[in-house]
Amino acid sequence: TQPVRIAPSILSADFSRLGAEIEAIDRAGADWIHVDVMDGHFVPNITIGPPVIKGLRPHTAKPFDVHLMISPIDPFLEAFAEAGANTLTVHPEAGPHIHRTVQHIKSLGKRAGVALNPGTPAKMLDYLIDDVDLVLVMSVNPGFGGQKFIESALRKIEAVRKMIDKSGRAIDLEVDGGVDHETAPRCIAAGADALVAGTATFKGGPSQYAANIAALRGQG
Ligand code: DX5
Ligand code: ZN
Repeated sequence: TQPVRIAPSILSADFSRLGAEIEAIDRAGADWIHVDVMDGHFVPNITIGPPVIKGLRPHTAKPFDVHLMISPIDPFLEAFAEAGANTLTVHPEAGPHIHRTVQHIKSLGKRAGVALNPGTPAKMLDYLIDDVDLVLVMSVNPGFGGQKFIESALRKIEAVRKMIDKSGRAIDLEVDGGVDHETAPRCIAAGADALVAGTATFKGGPSQYAANIAALRGQG
């Protein structure tokens, strides 16, 4: 098994200097840059869209792991692909045709991810697992950083790990929400191989980013 990938969520970064923040987490050892896109409709918060992603693209060569919390979703996929996303992760509840949406992402040449909200069963993946490149298990209800880790996510990670292993495909299993140095090892033990972390990455400011990321890897 490969070492766990750390994907800092820039939702917890200083938005007045996002370019510099992304360069700092790149230097500090981030594997992916997790970008939370919220529309004030699918989730009760508003963040950023394609122009900001495009503006950030030159600041790092690391993959942009773009988490779309928007509805409708299909009309915007192309704009996010063109802005520089590497993975586009979508919620089944955000549109009427999740299978079509996954195919659409792949037709744009991007990696397709499916996100499972805390109340959404792993079973949702039954007829998608042969097509997705990433499964994102939400361990908080989407909308805000800094929320408490929901324990039932661990059982879901275990269930999804079994589905992925059975599929025989290389599918990333990522966890998002309330991941810190205490919950990270539990997520990894349950079968996760990628961790999103906002608060836990950015706490203490730039001088702490490398230590914060190392702690998430269990190297603290
Ligand atoms: C929540 C977002 C998360 C969030 C994580 O809707 O999808 O990516 O920013 O923040 P922390 O790590 O602070 O829970
Ligand atoms: Zn996210």
